[in-house]
Amino acid sequence: MNKGYLTCGRGADSDEVYTPFYAVEPIVKYIPKGFTIWCPFDEEWSAFVQVFRERGYKVIHSHIGNGQDFFDYTLNEHYDCIVSNPPFSKKDKVLKRLYELGKPFAVLLPLNSLQGIGRFKSFQKGVEILAFDKRVDYHTHENYRDYTKGNHFASAYFCHGLLPNSLILEELKKYERPLKVRMKNT
Ligand SMILES: C[S@@+](CC[C@H](N)C(=O)[O-])C[C@H]1O[C@@H](n2cnc3c(N)ncnc32)[C@H](O)[C@@H]1O
Repeated sequence: MNKGYLTCGRGADSDEVYTPFYAVEPIVKYIPKGFTIWCPFDEEWSAFVQVFRERGYKVIHSHIGNGQDFFDYTLNEHYDCIVSNPPFSKKDKVLKRLYELGKPFAVLLPLNSLQGIGRFKSFQKGVEILAFDKRVDYHTHENYRDYTKGNHFASAYFCHGLLPNSLILEELKKYERPLKVRMKNT
């Protein structure tokens, strides 16, 4: 029996998981040089923001904690694509909005998100998948230093207008790098 699956949270609590640095690496090569990337579920310390900046991209980030709700927030700056790990509990709404915005995107989601009646309509507009040989282990708010090993679900990047093929399978090379979280008022 998959105990992790049976006991995992599926609400707002389970949305507060954070992407490790190693899981950002595979998507970088598919983002054209010179692109401005919007990370709409990310604070300054997010691995997406940090890695993209280190690789020379211009990055704009926003987060609900700063009053920037992805579902009604309008970015008044030019951007070329959207990349992030969104709240899994809102994935249908996130996908709908991503297709509405009409920019290339890549979002990290549970691999089984591919199936779903609500999402099917969105995916019919075109979807590319970047999947891995092993599962992504995430950070939780209890441990920003080490990612929590033994995740019970597989993850993949769900993309539109970014990958050269509809399905790409890659080796995920894990490494340790702590998230340098800066909390507000600290
Ligand atoms: C799965 S976490 C990932 C955080 C970060 N993108 C990362 O990869 O480390 C999703 C984040 O989106 C935030 N969030 C939830 N609803 C949101 C919304 N409507 N607009 C913007 N951010 C939201 C959550 O508070 C959470 O921090």
